[in-house]
Amino acid sequence: MKKTTPKEAGQDIAQEQVPGGAASGFNRLRSKLAFDRLVEMGAQMGLDNPLFLCHERAAKATTCIGGKEYLNFSTYDYLDINAHPEITEAVAKAAALYGTSAGASRLVGGERPPHRELERALADLYEVEDCIVYVSGHATNVSTLGFLCGHRDAIFHDALAHNSLVQGARLSGAARFSYAHNDCEALESLLKARRGEYKHAVIVTEGLFSMDGNIPDLPRIIALKKQYDCMLLVDEAHSLGVLGETGRGVREYFQIDPYDVDMWMSTLSKSMCGCGGFIAGRHDLVEFLKYGSPGFVFSVGMPPIVAVACRKALELMLREPERVHKLQAISQFFVRYATEIGLDTGHAQGYAVVPIMVGDPVVAGSLALALIKRNVYVMPITFPAVKAGTDRLRFFLSASHTEAHVRRALDAVREELPKAWEFVETYKREHADDHHA
Ligand SMILES: Cc1ncc(COP(=O)(O)O)c(C=O)c1O
Repeated sequence: MKKTTPKEAGQDIAQEQVPGGAASGFNRLRSKLAFDRLVEMGAQMGLDNPLFLCHERAAKATTCIGGKEYLNFSTYDYLDINAHPEITEAVAKAAALYGTSAGASRLVGGERPPHRELERALADLYEVEDCIVYVSGHATNVSTLGFLCGHRDAIFHDALAHNSLVQGARLSGAARFSYAHNDCEALESLLKARRGEYKHAVIVTEGLFSMDGNIPDLPRIIALKKQYDCMLLVDEAHSLGVLGETGRGVREYFQIDPYDVDMWMSTLSKSMCGCGGFIAGRHDLVEFLKYGSPGFVFSVGMPPIVAVACRKALELMLREPERVHKLQAISQFFVRYATEIGLDTGHAQGYAVVPIMVGDPVVAGSLALALIKRNVYVMPITFPAVKAGTDRLRFFLSASHTEAHVRRALDAVREELPKAWEFVETYKREHADDHHA
């Protein structure tokens, strides 16, 4: 395991003579981070910060910011379910009955009927024995991997696995091996070379990658998991409600035996329009997590109203599969139209998440601002969320988007992208001396 160096532990800051004390020290450390630097550079260039804008109503295909209407591609209401009247009504009834809080951890504060009803519905969706619902999607991964694995184990994860999966792997103390994105040859080489050194091993991948919108070769990963005696966790945050004929995710997409994956994980914040996360799988595994996983045991239970909302969203997804079809059709159209007009959609396969590759963080930020001025709301994604040099705009599609929405947004990108490059390059030329000074 990698040792923590004094520098990583922040000792250098403690030794610095920082006016204002330790808090200022942290601020100085933070200011070295890429994100802050980017915002600061943008400010020097006269650009506003596009992050943390306040929306004044539920963000759907369009949203309202500062009293103005925008086309919205930055929230993940994939199935156009958020604010559905059936959900709002069910939530209002549940609030009257249970209030707005679970009150305590479910272990000690007890459960409310919506908790087990949601867990049963999710287990049924995956056709597995049981399910555990956590209060946050991020905490689900951190806590599950962090609790399940230990220093004698190994975790093999895709290089583009979500931060929560990587944090969970780090917390566990297990050896962590990152294999090249969606590269099963690389995974197999690692398994061949290193699996034998560890007691248990877990392979971790996503059903649909959150930054690139592409799908792993899950049948091949399952074959490797069996050959090398590993467990397998699949994070369905962006594939639940998105992939498969009825939105049942990557399992339906590949027609996979539910028990070939040990942990079907997903957040409830995307297609399910709530928040929280879950692990669906065998009953004994779920029980093990329920009595030990710290993000479940030592954290408050999901508010019953959120459990009600997610269960209702699931019911709507299954009752109205046309939502899934609409989402898939508009996502495919998005990729086709972008390609037609010369934009680069990276590895996207046309399912809900589609990047437009830019390749420079400041250009991506400047482009996003230019689009905001044209009433198109889409966020830039830069390092550290993605590898440096793969900076992009990331579009989330929804069943509520139309072809006219997509055309309007992408035509604006096509017009603004060269201008953003020109703006940033001119700025860099004109300020080259400042950087050498
Ligand atoms: C793949 C993946 N896993 C987990 C999470 C964390 O989920 P949540 O935001 O619901 O906490 C996200 C969030 O975007 C994600 O993209």
